Amino acid sequence: MKNKFYCTTAIDYPNGKPHIGHAYEKIVTDAYNRWYKLFGHETYFLTGTDENGQKLIESAKAAGKDTLQYVDENVEIFKELCTRANISNDDFIRTTEKRHEQACVELWKNLEEKNLIYHGSYAGDYCLSCEAFYTETQAPDGICPEHHKPLERKEEEGYFFKLSEYQDWIIKYLEDNPTFVTPKAKYNEILSRLKGDDLRDLAISRPTQGWGVKVPGNDKFVMYTWFDALINYYSALSPEQKNLWPADLHVVGKDILWFHSVIWPCMLKASELPLPKQVYVHGMVLAEDGKKMSKSLGNAIDPFDMLDKYPTDTFRYYMLRNISANSDGRFSEEELISKHNTELGNDYGNLLMRIIKLARKVLPDTTLDSKGVTQDFKVEEYLFESKKFMENREHHKAIDKIWELVNFLNQYINDKEPWKFKNDPEAFKAIAYNCIYGIGVATILLKPFIPDVTEKAFSYLGTLMDIDSLLQFEGHKFNLENPDALFPKIEA
Ligand code: ME8
Ligand code: MG
Repeated sequence: MKNKFYCTTAIDYPNGKPHIGHAYEKIVTDAYNRWYKLFGHETYFLTGTDENGQKLIESAKAAGKDTLQYVDENVEIFKELCTRANISNDDFIRTTEKRHEQACVELWKNLEEKNLIYHGSYAGDYCLSCEAFYTETQAPDGICPEHHKPLERKEEEGYFFKLSEYQDWIIKYLEDNPTFVTPKAKYNEILSRLKGDDLRDLAISRPTQGWGVKVPGNDKFVMYTWFDALINYYSALSPEQKNLWPADLHVVGKDILWFHSVIWPCMLKASELPLPKQVYVHGMVLAEDGKKMSKSLGNAIDPFDMLDKYPTDTFRYYMLRNISANSDGRFSEEELISKHNTELGNDYGNLLMRIIKLARKVLPDTTLDSKGVTQDFKVEEYLFESKKFMENREHHKAIDKIWELVNFLNQYINDKEPWKFKNDPEAFKAIAYNCIYGIGVATILLKPFIPDVTEKAFSYLGTLMDIDSLLQFEGHKFNLENPDALFPKIEA
C-alpha cells in the first residue's frame, strides 16, 4: 500500500483511570497521525487497552468487583479520554476481544510448529506493576527499578519462546536500521544493552487464574500478558486491512522500550512477518516539582481536570510544545495558563483578530484577493523545516518553527503599519493580503496540533486554502468574517 501511515500508541492498562501520561501519548500520536493525513497519506491510527494482565485481577479484587466488569467500566473512561482530547483514532482495540485472542492463538501455534516454543521451568523475580521479570543485574537489591517495590519470587513451569536465538539477528537488524528506534540516545541504549547481556529465552505463559488468553492445547496456562499485548498492533487489523501492516510508527514511553525494540521484532521475525518501520520513544510527563507523578506523592495531575478547566487545544498545545519530544518534561498548570495567554492568545489569536478586523473596516467589502499584490516574503522554509522536524519525531521543534512564522508576521505588521493606509486601499490591500496569506500558512501547519481552533480560524479567514495550494501565493480568496477571540484570556 503506497503512501500509507499506520501509527499506534501503547495499549494502556485499565487498572485505574487514565493518567496524564496516557493523555500525553495519545495526543502526541494524534499529532503525527493528523500531520501525515494533512500531507496526503492514507493514515490509520490505533489505540486501545491491555486487559489480560494478572494485575487487572488484583486491581479488580481490591475494588471489590468482578474482573470483566471492572475492566469494562475503566475502558469506557479511556475511550472518553480519547473523545475529550480530540484523538482521531480509527480503532480502539481491547485485548479481551475475540479478534485479538484468535490472532494470538494463531501466532502461538505457528511458533510452536516451528519449534520456537518449548515447555520448561523457570525461576525469577517478578514485578506485578511492570508485569515483567528482572535479572540480578537489572535489580541487584531485589527492588523494581521502575516502581521501587520489592520483587516477588516466582518459580513456575511453563512455556518459553526461544528469544536467545535472535540475539545476533536483532543486533544486526538494529545496526542496519539506525532509525528503527528514535531518538538516538534510546537506540544506543538498546544496542549497548543487547551487546552487553545475553538474551535469555522468554517465559511466555502463566498458570491460569481464569483470566487472559488461553494457551492453545493446555488450558492450565494463559499467555504472558506482554506476549499477547504486543500482538494487538497486528490483531486489530482485519484480513482486509492487513495491507496496512507493517506499522509505520509505534509511539511508546521509555519504560516499555525493550519490549518494543527487542521482543516484538523477534516475535515478528520468528513469525515471518514484516517489522514495524519505527519505534518512537517519548519522554515522561513529570509533576511540577520535576518528580514522577504518583498518587502517593499527591503530585498527580488528572487529565480530565485539565480538560474541564481549559480548552482542549490549549492542553494539547501546551504538552506538544512544552514537553520536549525527546526527553522528560514538567507539567505546570501555571505555565499552561501563561502559554495560553501569551503564545496562543497574543502571538497567534490577536494577530489574526487584529488584521481581519482592520481589513473589514478598510477594504471596500469583506473579500480579499491577490489581484495586483506582490509577494513580500517567502514561506517555504517554514513548511519544509517543520516537515523535517516531524519526520525526525521532534514535534516541539516543528511547532517552534511554525511560531517563527507567527512571530515574523507580527513583526511584519508592526513594521508595515497597515493602519496608516486607511485612505490608500491599494497599499493597504497588499499588506493585508501578504499577512493573511501568511496566517493561512501558519494555520494549516498548526492543524494537527490544535485542530479545533484552526478550524475556527479558517472560518474567520474564509478560505479553502489547503496543503496543496499553500506555497502558491497568488489566487487565494478570503471572505473575512467578523472574528471572536480564539483564545479568551484565562485569569490565573
Ligand atoms: O505499559 N508520561 O501500559 P501503561 C508519559 N500496557 N507517558 C507515560 C507516563 C508519563 N508520566 N506514564 C506512562 C503499559 N506512560 C502496557 C503497554 S503496549 C503493547 C503495552 C506511557 O498503562 C507508558 O510509557 O503502564 C506507555 O507507553 C503508556 O503510557 C501506557 O502505559
Ligand atoms: Mg506503566
